[in-house]
Amino acid sequence: MSVTIKSEREIGLMREAGKILAKTHEELAKALKPGMSTWDIDQIGEEIIHSYGCIPSFKNYHGYPASICVSVNEEVVHGIPDKKRILKEGDIVSLDAGVIYKGYHSDAARTHTVGEVSPEAKKLIEVTKQSFFEGIKFAKEGYHLNDISRAVGRYAESFGYGVVRDLVGHGIGKNLHEDPEIPNFSKKRRGIQLQAGMTLAIEPMINQGTWKVVWLDDDWTVVTLDRKLSAHYENTVLITKGEPEILSI
Ligand code: MF3
Ligand code: CO
Repeated sequence: MSVTIKSEREIGLMREAGKILAKTHEELAKALKPGMSTWDIDQIGEEIIHSYGCIPSFKNYHGYPASICVSVNEEVVHGIPDKKRILKEGDIVSLDAGVIYKGYHSDAARTHTVGEVSPEAKKLIEVTKQSFFEGIKFAKEGYHLNDISRAVGRYAESFGYGVVRDLVGHGIGKNLHEDPEIPNFSKKRRGIQLQAGMTLAIEPMINQGTWKVVWLDDDWTVVTLDRKLSAHYENTVLITKGEPEILSI
């Protein structure tokens, strides 16, 4: 599949999807409390998404059994909500959600703190978020894809963090995952040239220690090899001739 350029109509629908997803994340952040299970978070998230007339795009995607990916501490992404997994003060939790509005997708992730967390955990979350903003300085018509990847990776690595290599961002639109793949580290090739109307899900996944990750036996949950913390920050972004438009914020 090749990279698609969205029409004004499609961009309008993706703006709506993005706004709804941003609200979903805000409401989820408010609901987060120590003592909740990761399953509770999924239930709340699914209800919010339905209340806006959207479909949770992750549910049943390649068999994923829930609406929200809830990844705690050393879990990088794709944590499966579980009634027995209870959040406690000091945890960090990454919430990844996707919605479909009138056939168009939006995808975004945030990492939150549960109660008071260590300064090291706070720093990791902040740097992960900022690495996204460093990357989108190059999310403009005329730059190449690798300009984004390099900026994300360099920033995170300058703090000594590990940049996950086995999972990448992606184009998005009628499908959750479209071309191009968007690594969070520099590649040798400069990649495609960015054009107004492209919509990209840019999603740094940054580890406190090694960049290496492994899959748990549930075949979904990705964890850091050294079991140190990991954070995730993602938005759906529209490329324009000028500043990028962050659709899911
Ligand atoms: N944001 C994730 C991604 O882009 C969400 C996919 S999780 C899945 O891959 F459950 F839907 F697979
Ligand atoms: Co994504």
